[in-house]
Amino acid sequence: RVVAVILVGGPTKGTRFRPLSLNVPKPLFPLAGQPMIHHPISACKRIPNLAQIYLIGFYEEREFALYVSSISNELRIPVRYLKEDKPHGSAGGLYNFRDYVMEDNPSHIFLLNCDVCCSFPLPEMLEAHKRYGGMGTILVIKVSAESANQFGELVADPITNEVLHYTEKPETFVSDLINCGVYVFTPDIFTAIQDAIMQRNDRANLHRETSFEFLQSATKALLHADFVRLDQDILSPLAGKKVLYTYETTDFWEQIKTPGMSLKCSALYLSQFRHTSSHLLAGGGDTRCATIVGDVYIHPSAKVHVTAKIGPNVSISANARIGAGVRLISCIILDDVEIKENAIAINSIVGWKSSIGRWARVQGDGDYSAKLGITILGEAVAVEDEVVVINSIVLPNKTLNVSVQEEIIL
Ligand code: GDD
Ligand code: GTP
Repeated sequence: RVVAVILVGGPTKGTRFRPLSLNVPKPLFPLAGQPMIHHPISACKRIPNLAQIYLIGFYEEREFALYVSSISNELRIPVRYLKEDKPHGSAGGLYNFRDYVMEDNPSHIFLLNCDVCCSFPLPEMLEAHKRYGGMGTILVIKVSAESANQFGELVADPITNEVLHYTEKPETFVSDLINCGVYVFTPDIFTAIQDAIMQRNDRANLHRETSFEFLQSATKALLHADFVRLDQDILSPLAGKKVLYTYETTDFWEQIKTPGMSLKCSALYLSQFRHTSSHLLAGGGDTRCATIVGDVYIHPSAKVHVTAKIGPNVSISANARIGAGVRLISCIILDDVEIKENAIAINSIVGWKSSIGRWARVQGDGDYSAKLGITILGEAVAVEDEVVVINSIVLPNKTLNVSVQEEIIL
């Protein structure tokens, strides 16, 4: 049997995702109309003999309760949220709940970061992992040398795929092969984490006995003994020991840290729906329906006027109302938004309950990695008629009655 664990983090994480993470835990923010974690969770469905999916985080349990029960019913796989009392780090979180994770006596454990967007080739990884015979297999991808330092960089043996060297976000370039934040382990991972904790305690105790100067830092280390990072504390020391291997994806992969990236990842998932869930995409060609261009998701409860033109890369959430003559290109429109007649939104995220007035224009350049490359309206923002908002971030509950450009409206 196999279990999957998704690390969802907690309220102190996801700060770069503000203001969108002010309303909803980042892992539940919709991409292609589905909560971010819905994509890895549905990918888990393809794993043979999957017994259980755990979400581990330090958000309040009630924030995930609704989603967890609905997805369990939909996939007919038990999905459970396990709440940490405080952040334990990516390995510490897993270790903290080892009794739950080992309940079904799994032979393999998948571990997924919640904030990566990819095709999750999980069955293929498991096959490769079994062939290698190691303790863990890491999903990896080649990226440009300039961007590699934002990730864990690793060097792998080109023949055996063994991880020879691992450094987390190094200052000087090591390798353009990076850690995608998707892993499969045997239960030995728990022994490896336990060993790391014990070694750290031994070192701290030794310092305490031998040198008074170290007393403070050693005590601090003991206090944080259960905070263990998977990358630095576990993967790095295990490199070159014939226990870690790589599986390289040739498909898409992105990390979702900022609102701009959510727009890019929404596009990637919408285009994946063409192959996996085409029923979720709005169909063109229906004369009672708006004009649809490319990949578009429209929630069944949303009302879109027949003269509107929508797409490509647009997702429209529940109860949104899109008026006559509206044009939407590359947008995420959240619940209960109203977009009035002849307004236009391009490269923008429109927050819950916001409204965009008649002939108004809300737009970004579409540089998804720049700070002001898209326009974001937080919750309950009102853009009045004919107002133009370009490359700006508007915090919740603001009313804009004058046009703005490259501004952050606090
Ligand atoms: N439950 C729980 N508890 N989850 C946590 C905690 C914690 O204390 N700390 C982090 N996480 C979750 C985050 O929500 C995220 O899903 C995942 O663990 C990794 O987050 P970070 O530890 O902040 O690392 P990162 O995202 O900057 O980088 C990691 O992922 C990259 C791929 O996206 C590293 O492993 C990199 O090497 C890797 O390239
Ligand atoms: P095709 O390329 O043949 O589909 O022509 P199109 O005119 O429909 O262009 P497209 O959908 O690619 O995008 C531009 C559309 O947005 C045009 O139809 C413009 O009329 C419309 N548009 C541009 N600026 C505004 C605006 O400020 N308000 C509104 N309501 N529409 C606008």
